[in-house]
Amino acid sequence: MGLTKERGPKAGDLSETSAEGAQVWAVGFYNTSGAAVFGDIFSEPCNPSLPINLKFPDDTASIKFLFTDASTDEVQYLKDAPVYGALIDPPGSSSQSLPVNQRTKRTLRLLQVDIAVKDNRSFETGWVFGTFVWRGPPKGDQLFDNLVPVSLQWGNDPGVYDDQSIKQSWVNADLEGVTFGWTKRPSMGFMGRANGPADNVRSSCLSCHSAARSPRAAIGLLGSSFNMEHLDDTQAVKRHVDTWFQNIKSGQLFQPTEPAAATLDYSLQLEAAAFRVCSACEAGDLTGPTPAICRSTGFYNRPKCSSPDTAMPVKRLLQSMAPPRQ
Ligand code: HEC
Repeated sequence: MGLTKERGPKAGDLSETSAEGAQVWAVGFYNTSGAAVFGDIFSEPCNPSLPINLKFPDDTASIKFLFTDASTDEVQYLKDAPVYGALIDPPGSSSQSLPVNQRTKRTLRLLQVDIAVKDNRSFETGWVFGTFVWRGPPKGDQLFDNLVPVSLQWGNDPGVYDDQSIKQSWVNADLEGVTFGWTKRPSMGFMGRANGPADNVRSSCLSCHSAARSPRAAIGLLGSSFNMEHLDDTQAVKRHVDTWFQNIKSGQLFQPTEPAAATLDYSLQLEAAAFRVCSACEAGDLTGPTPAICRSTGFYNRPKCSSPDTAMPVKRLLQSMAPPRQ
């Protein structure tokens, strides 16, 4: 079904009672304005060309549907949600990536719908990100009529170290006790910033996406080591906010002291694409001349992709490179 595996939610992420182990799978789309940018980049499909300073035009929109196999006993708002049959991993393999031949056809429920829009009225970042959750019981068309807005974000509130002063995110207070509001997940994103149920509470939509660059910065996309029991440690909160919640304008580079081959204007799908084409080249799944972006990003420097018999086993290779998501 074109799905890619997402971060496996931790216990207490999807609901107060959700255990660890559920899988989340997703697929994203771009509208015509955004897709045209992809068309230019992939005009030679095996040799994508990334401009140094990629920018999506205003009115670009991207939408992403996220599905989960979480039990509806644990995540009750998903009872009777639309289902989708897909080839996914066996139950419990939340965050590992298993070989494709171990997948089986299983049932996923619609959990979350993410939307990102490039909008020049969002002065500090150029983007507006928002998300919806499917919340039962079913009503109306049982699809759109059940999608409830969770949060909307146009900035990261840099320099805001408490949850009372957030001004660049909106979070739907009706969902308190449903998608947030317990010890493990006091708010949707970090200290009241926007995020969805599938996302890490230490982060926010714009925090992760503003880190889109190729190659990815050494520190990654989010500070997953922040201990949520230390929200009253003002120094730890300050360090976390100052590192991860900057307002990065379209075209500006996250972690500018670390050189990059391209800024990616908030598109993490493009970041994953560059990573994957170069992984395929290094693993010998792609043959012929090395794609130019693999050399400019430093992913793989030899003139030709590995031949399948001398290539590093994919598993080891993936361990040696930055993981595609966290
Ligand atoms: C932990 C980091 C992280 C957070 C937080 C996050 N995303 Fe993403 N998002 C990703 C990654 C990585 C991808 C790339 C494709 C994939 O793995 O699905 C992605 C893909 C997307 C896409 C498809 C277009 C693109 O940029 O690739 C949209 C739209 C999107 N996310 C919206 C959102 C919204 C809205 C939120 C907040 C509710 C959000 N994301 C929070 C990591 C994140």
